[in-house]
Amino acid sequence: MFLQTIIFILALTGPATAGLPEVQTIKAARTDDDGHRLKLWLTINARKRFLEISWKNAPARMGDNVLLTVQDPHSFELRTLPTGTPLASFASDEGSGSGDGAADYVPVQGFTRKPLTSLAKSTKPPSSRQYWVANEGTAEIVAAIQPSLSTQWFTTGVPFDYALSRNVTAQTFCYGYWASYINAEGRILAKTCVRAYPRWMNELRSVVGELRLRDLFIPGTHDSGSYRPNFDPLIRESLVTKYALTQDDDIMGQLMHGVRYLDIRVGYYRASQEKFFIYHGITKQRPLQEVINQVKDFVHETNEIVIFGLKEFPVGFGKSLGVHRLLVSYLREQFQDLIAHPSLTWRASLRDIWSRQQNVILAYDKHAIVEEFPQLLFGAVEQRWGNVQTWPRLETYLRNINDFDVSRFSSRLVADMAELTPETWDVILDKHGGLRKMADSINWRISQLYRDELGENSNIVAVDFIRGTTIVETAIDWNRRKIAH
Ligand SMILES: *[C@@H]1O[C@H](CO)[C@@H](O)[C@H](O)[C@H]1NC(C)=O
Repeated sequence: MFLQTIIFILALTGPATAGLPEVQTIKAARTDDDGHRLKLWLTINARKRFLEISWKNAPARMGDNVLLTVQDPHSFELRTLPTGTPLASFASDEGSGSGDGAADYVPVQGFTRKPLTSLAKSTKPPSSRQYWVANEGTAEIVAAIQPSLSTQWFTTGVPFDYALSRNVTAQTFCYGYWASYINAEGRILAKTCVRAYPRWMNELRSVVGELRLRDLFIPGTHDSGSYRPNFDPLIRESLVTKYALTQDDDIMGQLMHGVRYLDIRVGYYRASQEKFFIYHGITKQRPLQEVINQVKDFVHETNEIVIFGLKEFPVGFGKSLGVHRLLVSYLREQFQDLIAHPSLTWRASLRDIWSRQQNVILAYDKHAIVEEFPQLLFGAVEQRWGNVQTWPRLETYLRNINDFDVSRFSSRLVADMAELTPETWDVILDKHGGLRKMADSINWRISQLYRDELGENSNIVAVDFIRGTTIVETAIDWNRRKIAH
């Protein structure tokens, strides 16, 4: 109401007389306006694959709700339902903020409604209750949270089925789940969805076209090839998978969801028909061929630019360069015309890269080989590792390297490796409970750190279990604002 009045007054007086005092008033009014800066995110935790809902700048008033639906909701209304209907048996007292070791999840509040568990309960119900329904009752509400703070990160009890993500195509926008923040009257103040970002670079072309890759915030994955198709951590987790797998989407899924930097650790396996594999440490993961096919298919369909960062070569390469040469000729044969010519250099703008239609940058972490193949290979992306086991130390590390980047002279890409690193004995003793648990303990913090503070100067940020972070949306948001500079 107040804001509308001010807009009305401004409209009357016109922009010419809108001096400093009015501008300040508007700012104040904006913070007063419920939905204006409110933002919601939907993520998926790594350990149980529960949907997480987080928000920022929420009014958090009495009667506000955050509702999770399986269809796009356009309206919410309160209905009084007699007890005995299935919906009416959702009690509102069950569940609580999860995230295992609630202290880890600061701040976690609210409740979830899980139809199946509450149906089984035999509590004494009142004779009738009021419930929110979406789209006149046609869209199912699967979780409800009462926000109590303006910024929260909440884990629901709703499991996400990755089969939904495997159906994503370059045409997909929102799919699977929507989260809506509504006030006591049922007005939707903000909404989000689980969504793909298959063409975000092209969509921002007018904003980022003249920029170097170094000037962008680029979402990346750590150990991108360490995923397993159709893997369910709740059923098949072992000590090996616990410390080997780092992602839940395959390469195509990662790219469809916005990742543009891939961290590719190749091993050579002489004895098999298939010679090159992705490794994580010494455990063999996916065939390199599978990874390459997915990158090619994605790039052909979307015209996005992908940084294919080859590193480590943990197994089978030995001291000589022979296997490297085999690998490079394999890469050339596979990617062919898609390989960005290194004469572009890291100083090339995105437009330069697009104009040549060479969308795959092979960044190879072996200097002698880069020198030997100047027509194929870019030098390595500089990965920056904190090698730490706790959040406070990782946070300090990431802040320090980010400070350093404020004045960036070099065009070479840098990647913040935003994950915890277990030490060998920690793995053997399973001290941290696995990479999923470690990712869940920091991914929400990583998301907030880059969203609120470090995003402006960051380049590549590579994470474990990227679906548990908001890094893709944050990167796109920061990139969209680049035009202002
Ligand atoms: C994926 O798509 C197929 C074909 O359209 C469909 O039959 C299947 O139900 C979808 N899977 C999920 C989990 O939505």
